[in-house]
Amino acid sequence: MLKPQIISLPKILDKRGNLSFFEHPNQLPFEIARTYWIYDVPGGEVRGSHAFKEQQEFIVALSGSFDVIINNGEKETKFSLNRSYDGLYVPKMYWRRLENFSTNSLALIVSDKHFDADDYIRDFDRFKTLRNEI
Ligand code: TYD
Repeated sequence: MLKPQIISLPKILDKRGNLSFFEHPNQLPFEIARTYWIYDVPGGEVRGSHAFKEQQEFIVALSGSFDVIINNGEKETKFSLNRSYDGLYVPKMYWRRLENFSTNSLALIVSDKHFDADDYIRDFDRFKTLRNEI
């Protein structure tokens, strides 16, 4: 299983403005089933404090910056996202929260699953128990 990691995206530099992209399988390790984005986050707010049983995600700071804190049940790792050509791959069964959003930041998130409330693990102790079973 791949670990959480930053995936650097292609950059097509152009005097008219730069362009980046990702697609499966060249940059993304999964096929996209859903896209959503988080925006207009008030200063100091935290989003997405949970884990997913099955879905994988890829998170890009399209604009501004924020931190993604990843917890594997034992230790936390902080990934600071502030480039529109870097994305964070988050496998299933990692607790993750997004915080420290800059003004006007825009978090783009793609997932390999359609929305399913039953895929969420929202209790950290339960997450740790399930994590120990894999
Ligand atoms: P949620 O993922 O719980 O955000 P956070 O963990 O930051 O609180 O999503 C917030 C709400 O939006 C929740 O009621 C579910 C809904 N939602 C959808 O309907 N579809 C989606 O694709 C996502 C990501 C959320």
